[in-house]
Amino acid sequence: MTFTPHKNDLRVYPIPNADMAVREQGQGVPVLLIHGFPFDHSIWNRLFDVAASWPAEERNLRLIAPDLRGFGASMLENSEERADGVNSMEQFADDLHALLDAMNIRERIVLCGLSMGGYVAMQYLRKYGETVAKLVLCNTKTTADTPQQAETRRQQAEKFATAPHFLKTVAETMIPNLCCAKTKEERPEILDELRHMIESNNPLGAAAAARGMAERPDTTELLSQKDIPILFVSGSEDKFSTPEEMRQMASLARHKEEVHYLHAAHLAPVEQAAAFAHKLRDFCIL
Ligand code: MLT
Repeated sequence: MTFTPHKNDLRVYPIPNADMAVREQGQGVPVLLIHGFPFDHSIWNRLFDVAASWPAEERNLRLIAPDLRGFGASMLENSEERADGVNSMEQFADDLHALLDAMNIRERIVLCGLSMGGYVAMQYLRKYGETVAKLVLCNTKTTADTPQQAETRRQQAEKFATAPHFLKTVAETMIPNLCCAKTKEERPEILDELRHMIESNNPLGAAAAARGMAERPDTTELLSQKDIPILFVSGSEDKFSTPEEMRQMASLARHKEEVHYLHAAHLAPVEQAAAFAHKLRDFCIL
């Protein structure tokens, strides 16, 4: 399928009504990595670095990390961008399915979602479950927003769409809660990367995704319906998807997998990239 080299290490693939930018690395089991909100594919950069450092015989994952529609280097839409758009979790899942088709990937994949990426992964599993071999849910939940949470998101979406620099405000308020105390103290460069990632995003893409999250359905029942192995990854200091919430979610899964707790807050795959990478590889290969 057609692709053109994009900035740095990204390739661009056509999907309906947009182009999608993707970072790819390695060969072997395809692992589709879905970023959270309001980030982009580079949230997985540390995982890519760890995987690249493995000895050749252990490099058996094909990592695929797209920028979701309207994030990073992926277009929001081909036509004129709308300030009141909604990108549902289902829309993102449809985009990813189209992406794999454009990449000519026909084998079953390991689907891995971080936070909002987990919401998207559950929609993908619901619609395209026959293409999913295994699922990894990191720092996420399967419940819907409460009416109050949904209303707050819609208000946030209006601000993204209308207030200049609102992404900057969001970065300032979110970042202190994204990483654990140890990460903040010892690796401040991670916080700088997160700030850069958030502030570089298209505000209209963030607005559309916020509206999409506000209307997302509860997908909890899929955990017991779908007969696939699920790995749950939790941050011990995560306030958004607490370890207790992750444990409860895991207890509902048809295939009982343990929750893998890492010393981290909301971004366990970033803060504990090496431990996460090894767990992911074991889970994918075994
Ligand atoms: C994320 O990291 O993707 C967000 O915390 C998800 C959310 O706002 O629910």
